[in-house]
Amino acid sequence: MKKHSAPAHTPRRDFLKKTAATGAGLLIVPAASVYGTPANSSLGLGIIGCGGRGNYDGGLFVEHTETRVTALMDPFEDRLESTRARFDKLGEGRGHAKIANENIFKGARAYEKLVQSKDVDVVLVTSPPYFHPDHLEAAVNAGKHVYLEKPVASDVHGCKRVMKIGERARGKVSIHVGFQKRFDAGYRAAVERIHGGEIGDIVLGQSFYYTNDLDRQNKPGMSDLESRVRNWVFDMALSGDILVEQNIHIIDVVNWAMKSHPVKAIGSCGRMVRKQVDGIPPGMLTHDFYMMTYVYPGDVHVSFNSNQFRNKGYRSQGERFFGTLGVAETFQSGPAQITLNKEGAQRQDAGPVNLNKAMATKLKAFIEGIREGRFENETAQGAETTLSTVLGRMAATSGREMTWDKMMRSDDKWDLKINLDALGSNGTVSMK
Ligand SMILES: NC(=O)c1ccc[n+]([C@@H]2O[C@H](COP(=O)([O-])OP(=O)(O)OC[C@H]3O[C@@H](n4cnc5c(N)ncnc54)[C@H](O)[C@@H]3O)[C@@H](O)[C@H]2O)c1
Repeated sequence: MKKHSAPAHTPRRDFLKKTAATGAGLLIVPAASVYGTPANSSLGLGIIGCGGRGNYDGGLFVEHTETRVTALMDPFEDRLESTRARFDKLGEGRGHAKIANENIFKGARAYEKLVQSKDVDVVLVTSPPYFHPDHLEAAVNAGKHVYLEKPVASDVHGCKRVMKIGERARGKVSIHVGFQKRFDAGYRAAVERIHGGEIGDIVLGQSFYYTNDLDRQNKPGMSDLESRVRNWVFDMALSGDILVEQNIHIIDVVNWAMKSHPVKAIGSCGRMVRKQVDGIPPGMLTHDFYMMTYVYPGDVHVSFNSNQFRNKGYRSQGERFFGTLGVAETFQSGPAQITLNKEGAQRQDAGPVNLNKAMATKLKAFIEGIREGRFENETAQGAETTLSTVLGRMAATSGREMTWDKMMRSDDKWDLKINLDALGSNGTVSMK
């Protein structure tokens, strides 16, 4: 059959879209161009969830990229106030305008308004994981680029949604997911050497994440609902549990080194020290330890252990890969190391690990990609890693082996049973 030839005239709008999608090297600022921001001015950043990470990531955006914070959204006024004060101060020396009153959005549903703001080009999602799919979807629908913190969701249903949203967004906006270790020089060098065959075939792995109990965020006098949302890291539905919310960084490195997700998992979890947290309904309290065996293709077993006990400052996180020719260790607290099984072989540094630097590198790559019309999309990898942790949680909480295929056939979904409207007004707030 005869092929139709291309039309002689490509409408300008289509041309811009196509060139941007194929990354033809033109300097295009896609979302900003829609809203009339000149390509060489800084990009406006809107933050959904103004807690610890929103402030940390937002600060690094301002420090390391041509970005200014232009809008904030959170259910709680104290979070909005302190975050606004911080970014107004940070922007002062850089000639950034203060965040406008009409761009301060309070209420659990106010993210719908933030993503519509003409001052927002990029959305930083640092809310509790349960809400991530909703927040990502709203931002993508509004044509905004998104830096989505990990995990991408707290259940299988949410991960599948993120995969679909990500596919829809491909080539239209950039989406990064918060796995900064993949941008760290030490981890990168070690994983490249593993992939280069230096330690041979990986035949066994060991990985762990031991840390402290986490701080309570509720205050006396708060309602149960507010305490639950403030203490979301202790809530199974809101966080996904410690394996999904926190330990995920380790499973991400294992998947990266193994070039695969696990095919099955078996394990156990429990609540040995942390028995109760204010606001968290019985049965929804997160576990304080996990002991897992993940099985990767080729029947390669990788152990994973974690806890959040009162370890008085003790923290230890890392991965150890045993290969047919050597051993690689990627520990967060020191240089990544490679030891080869040769006679008299010395440990060799693969490179220092510096996660602040890794974050800066990642954010620069994200913003540069947007400026150059190369729309990066990490949703598939982000969902794959999140699903790998959900797989472990499903296995450990049921006490039965769980396979990847069985999990993917399920539609595992948390029922939050929270009236979001009770969390505050649904609109902008003006503050003193
Ligand atoms: N990449 C990393 O290394 C890293 C490190 C820490 C946290 N994180 C991730 O960042 C996210 C936030 O964690 P955090 O430590 O900042 O927690 P946090 O509790 O300090 O902040 C969360 C903020 O979200 C707000 N919030 C609650 N419900 C909301 C809703 N429905 N809509 C919008 N905002 C809501 C809270 O009021 C709070 O201000 C999580 O996904 C977490 O896993 C990533």
